[in-house]
Amino acid sequence: MLCLGIESSCDETALALVEDGRLIAETLASQAPIHSLFGGVVPELASREHYRFIGPLFDQLFARCACRTSDLDAIAVARGPGLLGSLLVGMAFAKGLALALGTQIIGVNHLHAHLLAAGLDNKLAFPALGLLVSGGHTHIYRIESPWQFIQLGRTLDDAAGEAFDKIGSVLGMPYPAGKQIDERARRGHADPKLLPRPFLDSGNLDFSFSGLKTAAVNLIRGQKGFGAEKDAKMWSPADVDNFCASLNLAIADTLAAKVDRALQENPDTETLILAGGVAANGMIRDRLAALALKHGKMAIIPKPALCTDNAAMIAYAGYLLARAGFSHSLEVESIPRGKKIPEDLEHAG
Ligand code: KG4
Ligand code: ZN
Repeated sequence: MLCLGIESSCDETALALVEDGRLIAETLASQAPIHSLFGGVVPELASREHYRFIGPLFDQLFARCACRTSDLDAIAVARGPGLLGSLLVGMAFAKGLALALGTQIIGVNHLHAHLLAAGLDNKLAFPALGLLVSGGHTHIYRIESPWQFIQLGRTLDDAAGEAFDKIGSVLGMPYPAGKQIDERARRGHADPKLLPRPFLDSGNLDFSFSGLKTAAVNLIRGQKGFGAEKDAKMWSPADVDNFCASLNLAIADTLAAKVDRALQENPDTETLILAGGVAANGMIRDRLAALALKHGKMAIIPKPALCTDNAAMIAYAGYLLARAGFSHSLEVESIPRGKKIPEDLEHAG
């Protein structure tokens, strides 16, 4: 079974082909350099860039492999959550192609695809516990199967990636700052007492990162040149490395504490899946892998290139759904962030 995946939910235009569960080709155009000029993603610019890139990327994808468009068994497209204008570019392209080729279309939940991507490199076993940590979301799921996700917890304000990006921007780092903070943290020494671990006593599996963000920003602004008294100290590069290590540790501790609780409450889960852009973070990967081991489970963490936005995850999720007999009609709609994604998959049986 050959499935095309199309991803255009934010600032990455990407296409990929998965054949019988194996990635055979992919193309990706990142818009990060354009949006970093504005300190964050500019929705109108993102839609225009998707529109500019999607056709050439499609031609490039098929030039890279031995298959033809007529070989496609399914077309999977990220339907949301994301920026509506950006999602619509991918959706219109997918529908046009499905209509022209007479191929089935599958609208894929971008967040579920992040977690299922782990199956490209590893064998997935269900039920699984999933932690999705990206720029817009921090969610814990119980995953019964590739089409049954039960949300157990979520962030009430900022996502973990958003906290990295906003704090990094106050430090003067280009957007998105998560990767740079991760790299600097590797050179620094963490002070476990420097920053708070928010919302750990909430008694549930929800997160809140806004208090940590405010505490971190206040520390940065306590320096000379950042708005503090003129006799305040200016951080050296080593101080910045140490601060990044402390921030990394505070976020890793917070994520690990909630996942620990979720694993205790879901002892029958077979594996722990970590996914989303923040899952590329070295310390978070190590902490979650150790935690899974403590609970006698296997941690499944995709390689960093599969953690950030990509189309291989959409193609793979589409393949799993198509193989199980699920598809959408051409009426399938893109769903922007903040709106519930309808459970409207149709089953062939
Ligand atoms: O999943 P993703 O590519 O896009 C969304 O769907 O949001 O995640 C992007 C997020 C950004 O906040 C970025 O700073 C963060 O992932 N990120 C990292 C690392 N690499 C990317 N955060 C921490 N450490 C990293 N190595
Ligand atoms: Zn994403």
